[in-house]
Amino acid sequence: MKEKIESIKSVALLAIEQATTSSGLNDVRVRFLGKSGEITSLMKLLGTVSKEERPAMGKALNDVRVQIESALDAKTAVVEESEKQARLAAEAVDVTLPGKTSAKGSLHPLTLVREDILRVFLGMGFSVAEGPEIESDLYNFQLLNVPKDHPARDMQDTFYVNDNFVLRTHTSPMQARIMTTTQPPIRVVIPGRVYRSDDDASHSPIFHQIEGLAVDKHITVGDLEGCLQTFAEQMFSSDTRIRLRPSYFPFTEPSVEVDVTCAICHGKGCRVCKGTGWVEILGAGIVNPAVLEMCGIDSKEYSGFAFGLGLERIAMIKYGIPNIKLFYENDVRFLEQFN
Ligand code: PHE
Repeated sequence: MKEKIESIKSVALLAIEQATTSSGLNDVRVRFLGKSGEITSLMKLLGTVSKEERPAMGKALNDVRVQIESALDAKTAVVEESEKQARLAAEAVDVTLPGKTSAKGSLHPLTLVREDILRVFLGMGFSVAEGPEIESDLYNFQLLNVPKDHPARDMQDTFYVNDNFVLRTHTSPMQARIMTTTQPPIRVVIPGRVYRSDDDASHSPIFHQIEGLAVDKHITVGDLEGCLQTFAEQMFSSDTRIRLRPSYFPFTEPSVEVDVTCAICHGKGCRVCKGTGWVEILGAGIVNPAVLEMCGIDSKEYSGFAFGLGLERIAMIKYGIPNIKLFYENDVRFLEQFN
C-alpha cells in the first residue's frame, strides 16, 4: 500500500503539472479525489490494513491527499488567472475605434428649393395655396383663354384622363380657381406637381411648378419686373439681373419669358447657359383682361400679373445639376450632397 500511495502521488503531481486548463485540472481532481477517485478508494481500503500499520498508512494517505489538494489549488489559481487574462484580452473593446453613426436624412433638393422660393414670396406678402392635380378642362384651358380646339393647346403635350379632365399641364388653373372665388387684392403663390408627355435630359413627364398671381388696382409690368428682380436676387445672388423677352401665352397679354444672369458664371458664359450668360427661368405676363372677365373680375378696375416657374429648372441652375432624372432616382450619393 505504501508504494501504491507513493505512485499515486507522483502520477497525480505530474498530471497537475501538465494540466493547462481549469477543466483539465478538474478532471485530475475527480480522478484522484472524487467519490470513486484513486485516493478515496484507498481510504476505503484502510479497513483491510492491519491494526499496527493502519495509523501510519492513514497518515501517509492523508498527507498525500493534502499535497494533491494544495497542488491542485495552487495550479488552479494560476490557470484561472491566465484564462481570465485571455478572456479579457479577447473581449477588449477598442475605445479608439470610430463610433457607429446613424445616417441622418435630409430634405430633397426640390423640397429645399421649393421652400427657398416660397420663403422669398412670403416675404413679399404672398400667401400659399394648393390645388388638384387631376384638373378639369375648364380650369386647365378654357378659363385661361384656351378654348377647345385652340391651336395653343399644342404648346403643352397633355395627358387626358377623359374628354373633360386632364392631368394638369401647369399650375395656372389655380389662377382661375382663385380668381373665380376671391375678390382682389390677390397675392398668392401655388406650388404643385404638373404633367406633360415630354421626356428628355431636361424634361420629365412629372415635374413641379410654382405659380404666382397678383391682382389689384394699377398693377403694371413694372410690378412684375420688380417682384421678379427681387426674387432673382434673393434666390441666386444679389448681383443677379433679370431680362424680359416678349413671348406668348393665351392667358397673359403682354407675355414675357424671363431670363436671369447665369448663376454659375455670373453672365460670363459657360456650359449651363450655353455661352450666352443668360438662362431662362420662367414664363410670365400681365393677366389677360379676357381671363379676368371670365373669372368674374372687372378688368376696367383691376389688372394683374402672373408667372409660372419650373422648380426642377431653378434647382438645376442653382446647383448645376446636368440631368433632370437625378431628382427622381433617389440615389443617396446624389441626395446626401444637399445635407
Ligand atoms: N403656365 C405657363 C407654362 O407652364 C407659365 C406661365 C404662368 C406663363 C403664368 C405666364 C403666366 O408654361
